Amino acid sequence: MTGSMTQGSEMTAQTTGPQWWRHGVVYQIYPRSFMDGDGDGIGDLAGATARLPYLHDLGVDAVWFTPWYLSPQADGGYDVADYRRIDPRFGALADAEKFITQANELGIRTIIDIVPNHVSDQHRWFQAALAAAPGSPERARFWFADGKGPGGDQMPTNWLSSFRGHTWTRTTDPDGRPGQWYLHLFTREQPDLNWTNPEVRAEHESILRFWFDRGVAGVRVDSAALIIKDPALPDLPEGSVAPGRHPFLDRDGIHDVYRSWRAVAQSYDPPRILVGEVWLEDPARFAAYLAPDEMNTAFNFDFMARAWDCDQLRASITETLAAHASIGAPPTWVLSNHDVTRPVTRYGRDDSSFAFEKKRFGTPTDIELGTRRARAALLLCAALPGSVYIYQGEELGLPEDEELPREAIEDPMHFRSGGVDPGRDGCRVPLPWTEQSATNFGFSGTDDPDPAWLPQPEWWGQYAVERESADPGSMLSFYREVLALRRTHSDLGRSGFAWSQAGSTCLAFRRGAISCVVNFGPGPVALPEGDLVLASGPVEGRMIGPDVAAWLRVDPAEQAHPTDQIDQTELVRQINKQHNHAKE
Ligand code: GLC
Repeated sequence: MTGSMTQGSEMTAQTTGPQWWRHGVVYQIYPRSFMDGDGDGIGDLAGATARLPYLHDLGVDAVWFTPWYLSPQADGGYDVADYRRIDPRFGALADAEKFITQANELGIRTIIDIVPNHVSDQHRWFQAALAAAPGSPERARFWFADGKGPGGDQMPTNWLSSFRGHTWTRTTDPDGRPGQWYLHLFTREQPDLNWTNPEVRAEHESILRFWFDRGVAGVRVDSAALIIKDPALPDLPEGSVAPGRHPFLDRDGIHDVYRSWRAVAQSYDPPRILVGEVWLEDPARFAAYLAPDEMNTAFNFDFMARAWDCDQLRASITETLAAHASIGAPPTWVLSNHDVTRPVTRYGRDDSSFAFEKKRFGTPTDIELGTRRARAALLLCAALPGSVYIYQGEELGLPEDEELPREAIEDPMHFRSGGVDPGRDGCRVPLPWTEQSATNFGFSGTDDPDPAWLPQPEWWGQYAVERESADPGSMLSFYREVLALRRTHSDLGRSGFAWSQAGSTCLAFRRGAISCVVNFGPGPVALPEGDLVLASGPVEGRMIGPDVAAWLRVDPAEQAHPTDQIDQTELVRQINKQHNHAKE
């Protein structure tokens, strides 16, 4: 857009109605670490249900549970043994139903994780496949293949795992001789399903209905861009691969699967939603998942992974808005999840961008700086058009726990890197609810609990919900205030977006009567005109310091400050061109 405010279509500031997902706030629960209701040191559904009032007071519209299904937990529950059963560590089906119902009564919807790319090696289908012969229907649900070379002892392809290392494991035949290999893009305990098999498609549609019938509002689709493989199992060539030509990433056939899922979701009243975990660099390929008959939204990892840098974030926001506008889908704004370094730690580093490959033990950080930036980042995200995701503990400003004893680490990413990558457990440490270290900082709802499944550091209590609730300056109080204001300022839900001119080290934009300013520079900057609504740090004489953001109320009729000439129409045109090109 060039200097004018555009009007969004059906957005409202209310988070009721079937379009709630266009602007709602979703809170991610990692059930193992949210709240333990029975004192065994492992979070569970009874614990989560007991904390519903907390989520209500925080002001969230929905929760997303990472997998709660029966699982050997070889990859934190992303190795599902039965998609229709709750893991006994977390409770039973009745506990899930109780959570869904009680959450609904408080106006909180429940989204669950669906893991279509792979199952656990303990899943009945995979056990049947191992017991069956090569070429059998049982094996056809997976990717079994003969090895290359003499005796078939070389892997069928050269594909590497995003968890590092190879992607094939060899089976042993009943006579003890080496047999076929099976594909697993993640750990060997997570065999990949073959989505060209009609049984696989039918089974997942049935699983969707199983949970939609129980009142879940939608699903988060795990590893959504990986599910279709090239059946010829070619090697991955060296160098770059043309869009759609990669043997297992973002293949064009994927869209047919999600179209059929959307049809299932739309057959419910209210329609259920699909949220994609889509890690793709190309904005046009990403946007293709958000066609009106596919996913409703997808995580904006581009924004999340960028450094705390004015130009970087401006570029990401501009590209994001353009890519989503091209297809009429709302963007999402995500600062963290159960896979990535917590924002107060990440934003305090010299290099504050995120990449899995960069993770190392002992990377220094400045938590105070990171916290200041994380507060500003929330104000930025909450002012942008679209929905916002909050990962449990982010609202407490919890740092990554980078001192977990090595023997406590469970994450396969750590082991598969040969111990070089610290893994993801540092953001999965059970939450502190009270300052009482003797009772797992209130994580376990009993006086004499078992130790928490991951040890909590001594300093955990300073981030406890109890303590932060009593401190108006805490991260928790700030999150509550921001989310409450976001609800009351209807323009944040309804209006378009326009950049404002703000100098080279500031981001500034307007959403109707609200203007948002973020100072990335080294010194203080003067706030533009308008009544101050809220700032993420101190405001002295209408000046905000480095790494501080502010919201101002301005007269929507007035052009408070001239806008930059960001030509969004041109960007949309370019992205469409790329998209069409990719389809050819
Ligand atoms: C997704 C999940 C991650 C999991 C992986 C394999 O990226 O977010 O936690 O390890 O998929 O299922």
